[in-house]
This record gives sequence, structure tokens and C-alpha cells, in this order.
Amino acid sequence: MDEFLPKMKNLLSLLCIIISALFLPYVTYGQYEVSKSASGQHGMVVSPHPLATKVGLEILKGGGNAYDAGIAIEFALAVCFPVAGNIGGGGFGLYRTSAGEVLSLDYRERAPSQASTKMYLDAKGQVMDSLSRLGALAVGVPGTVKGMEQLHRKLGKLPWATLLQPAINLASDGFALTVIDSDLMFNHAQKFKQVNAWPTPFVKQQGRRWRMGDTLKQPMLAKTLRTIQENGSAGFYEGWVAASIVTEMKRHNGLISTEDLKSYKAIWRDPIKFDYQAPTDTTYRIYSMAPPSSGGIILNQVLGMLNHIPKSDWLANKDNHLWRIQQLVETERLAYADRSEYLGDPDFFQIPVRQLLDKSYLKSRFAHAHVGPAINSLKVGPGLGNHKMVRQPNAGSQPKEHDETTHYTVVDGQGNALCTTTTLNGAFGSKLVVEGSGILLNNEMDDFSANPGSPNSYGLIGGVANAIEPRKRMLSSMSPTIITRLVPSPKGSTEMLAFTVGTPGGSTIPTSVLQVILGLTVDGLSPAEAVAKPRYHHQWFPDQILSEYNSIIPERATELGKLGYTIKLIEKIGRVEAIKVSEGGLLIGGADPRGDDSAAGY
Ligand code: GLY
Repeated sequence: MDEFLPKMKNLLSLLCIIISALFLPYVTYGQYEVSKSASGQHGMVVSPHPLATKVGLEILKGGGNAYDAGIAIEFALAVCFPVAGNIGGGGFGLYRTSAGEVLSLDYRERAPSQASTKMYLDAKGQVMDSLSRLGALAVGVPGTVKGMEQLHRKLGKLPWATLLQPAINLASDGFALTVIDSDLMFNHAQKFKQVNAWPTPFVKQQGRRWRMGDTLKQPMLAKTLRTIQENGSAGFYEGWVAASIVTEMKRHNGLISTEDLKSYKAIWRDPIKFDYQAPTDTTYRIYSMAPPSSGGIILNQVLGMLNHIPKSDWLANKDNHLWRIQQLVETERLAYADRSEYLGDPDFFQIPVRQLLDKSYLKSRFAHAHVGPAINSLKVGPGLGNHKMVRQPNAGSQPKEHDETTHYTVVDGQGNALCTTTTLNGAFGSKLVVEGSGILLNNEMDDFSANPGSPNSYGLIGGVANAIEPRKRMLSSMSPTIITRLVPSPKGSTEMLAFTVGTPGGSTIPTSVLQVILGLTVDGLSPAEAVAKPRYHHQWFPDQILSEYNSIIPERATELGKLGYTIKLIEKIGRVEAIKVSEGGLLIGGADPRGDDSAAGY
């Protein structure tokens, strides 16, 4: 009963938020009015925090393009959304220009040069989880500031200084906490105290509890942001800010050196690109993130497998929830098995991308729609052979962190689109805050396979492809995705911008993005409906369907149980943001009702 009541309370509050999001134009969170759905002709911003959405919209209204707005949002989130927004972490951005070029930027963290394959193993070869999750040894070399500078140099229009100013104002003047922010900070107070030798801004003094409406000021972070405003990325990777990071590392036996910071580079990569023929007969071109994220490959594999199911099956089973769940779960199981063996940093490991995405491979991997008993994960594995990874006995452990990572997306009136997922990894990353510069540092090192075959904090297992090596990027699941509609034209076909989608959620990111894509393209849902719809997820191991409380109805759960599926209930999966560009050019934003996420357009 003690456990049951809070769960019921959570379920009821989630249901209320989802229902209100679908039927009310906005919800009030303390002093913030949060719109879950918005439309406009000239610009659309969807982000996880109302203040960041406001910053993005003001940049657009002030003459900035989608990329300018994205840069200003990224820095604003580092202040007003410290659980995941960051300058001490990293991310991936997908960008489509109004001319139709699609680019992707990898500003993922990388391992310090002193990192080593066995750095998290004890004398018996067992992973010491806490070292890769909490404190200085968990921190990868941050990529965000270099990423933003690269983006600004290539696609930005307004001056760099203009884009930093809103974040500086938020950090120095302070801002009012929402109930979600205040609960999160209070819940992590002990860990902040455990890790830091100084009173960080995130712990309220005299053991008091943060309340909604309290003001959070971050004067040290404001000073750091001013330095970045004046000196660009050198203001972070060199000079006094870099020195403060290295001092913090030395104080806590961390590994990041002056040289690690100075030599960090963000990398432009070719996105994963594939066509998806929806059963509605529209063909969509999907662009998502390539390795070192697994997101694009998982999406391409799952949709590539589903594309071999006859259209008539999809149409006949449109409302057959059981059929749909089985197709998704079984294709996800196969894609995550491949992920575990073949994916890692492409600059360190030769990833068989062509073979993994080959249409005949995907057809043979999932030959028919799956009906009947559940497939046992022990009986399927990576599909290309040559397995090097041995699954460790504890590989069935549960995901442990959920409030991690964040996503925002912008489309401007010219048709430029930005879709960015950025992260500290776990909630507030390593919880280590740099004294003097106020930077919250990531715990992204936990995304490596600390011991190939053993699970990380998401329960994900990985192979040697994702083993720790100096300067290597850890495998991610982040899946910022841009979708165009192929319209027949005299030249063959023309691409029209159709949707942007992305979410936080660790290992559940690609499957949340997938379900929202299906909602938008197959089921004809609006962005607000598609992002609100309850979700479920399978990742090969643990061999279970992770399901939001209201996602799989009890009757369906019983049917799935009879077929041999195990269902594990979870309060929330992801916080998806999506924008639709209608055929007439109207921009429609949908913000996830699971958080403070908000959409605004004009
Ligand atoms: N840290 C979560 C991810 O990169 O997928």
C-alpha cells in the first residue's frame, strides 16, 4: 500500500497533465504559462523550459534564424534547466537549411587522454558503477561550447554576444523555479553535498527545501558565460575557466587536463538518411544522428524492418494495439542487439553501417510481421556474426536514471530547421560543480561499456566497439530527427520539410522518437497528440517491455503476458518535442505534457 499510493498519485497527476494538455491551450506552472501546442507562420520554438522557449522566440522575433535561436536556447538551458541543460556536457544537432541541405553536428563529450579501458573495474574485474556516475572520474571532456561556436560560424546570423546575453541575464538576475525544478534539486541535494567541497547554488542553505517560485541565481556561471561571450570557445577551453575545471579535477582525482580541453573538437558528420514509405502512401525522408549516436541506425533499422510488412497489415491492424506492440517490440529487440555489438565511436571502431542498413539484411532479419509467442532475447543476438561481446550475468539489470538529457527544436519563417538533443547524461550529470566558474559537469563516461557485456545506468550493454579509450566518444542514443515529405515533381521528387522530433530518455530515446514518428506519419496525430501519447520500449536486455502506466491497458497486458512478454511499468518515458510544417506552411509545435516543456510560435 505504501508503494501503491504514491504510484497512483503519480499516475493520476500524469493523466491530468496529459488530458489538460490535449484540451486546454496552456497550463499554468507557478508563474509560467506553458503552452503544449502552438502554431505560427513565422517561427516555432519547442523546448523543455518556458524560459528557454521565450528566449528562442525573442531571438527569432529580433531577426535571428533558427540556428541563432538554438544557440541562445542551449545557453539559456544551461542556466534555467540545470538537470540536463549544460555547458559542461555535450550533444548532437541536426540542421536543415531553407535551401534543403541537411547537416549534423557532433559535440559529444570524449574520454580524457588519461582514461583507460579498465578504469572503472575493481581487482576482480567488476564494474564499480559509482565511479562512472558520480564525481570527477565520471566526467567526459565537454563539447557544448565548441559545438555552439561551430554552429554559429556555419549557420548563425546574429552576433555571438547577442545569443549569450539572455543566458547571462538569467544566471545573474536569477529565475523562478518550477515545481519540477525545485523537487529535482531537493531530491539531489545529498549527492551535491557528497560530491562538492563548497556550497553550490543547487543546495538551499540550512537544509531547507526548494519551493516553486524560489529564485535560483548563479553568479559564477554568469561570469563564465560573460567570458564565453567575450572570447568565444576559448573563453571555456582556455584561460581561467579551463583552469578552474582542471583544478576541480585535481581536487577530486578526475582526469581532464588543460590539453584535453584545448584539443577538443566538434565534428560535422553526415546524418543517417533513409526513406520510409508510410502505409498512407506518403514517402518520408528521415534524417537522424549517425554514430557516435546509435539513434539514426536504430530508427533506420526498425522502420526499415517495419517497411517489409505489407501495407494491408498495417491498415487492417491500425487499431489493433496488440499487433502494433508486437511489431515494435520485436523489431526494437533486434535493433538493440545489433547496437550492443557494432556501435561505438566511428573514429575508433569500424562500424558496418552499410551492412546494418542494407535493405535485404533488414528484410531477412525481420521477415514477417510478428504474431504469436514472444521471442526470447537469449535466442537472438547481433545479426552480422563475428560476435566479440560476451553478455555478463548481470546484463538484465534495470535502467536506473530517468531525468537525463533534453531536447529543443526550432523552425523559422524561412524554413530553416534545428533539432538538438543535449545532455549531462544523468540528472545534473556527475553532480560536480566547478568552484569559481559554476559549471555543472557531465557523467557521460557511464555511456561507455565499462566492461563489455555489463549494463550501464540505462541497463544497456555494449561491446568492444564502445569500450573506453583515450579521446574516444562514448556511444549515445540521442536521436534528433528531421523528416521531409517527398512530393512528386517533374524532376522526380522534391523534399518538403515535414517534421522535427527528438527527446531525452537515455536508451528509450530512439523508441520514443519512433513512436512519435508513427503517430505523426501513420496515425495522423497532431504534434501535441503524438508527443502526449503514452509510450513503451524494448531494448533486447533486460528482456522486458518498459511501459508507461497508461500505455498498455490491463487487458492488453494480460494478452502479452500469455504470449510470454514481461511488462515493467514506469512513470514516464521521455519528454518529446515536435514541430510539424503543414503543406500550407503553417508551423505547429507540440510540447510534451510530462514536464515543463512549452511550445510558442508567432
Ligand atoms: N547520455 C544519454 C545518451 O547519450 O544517450
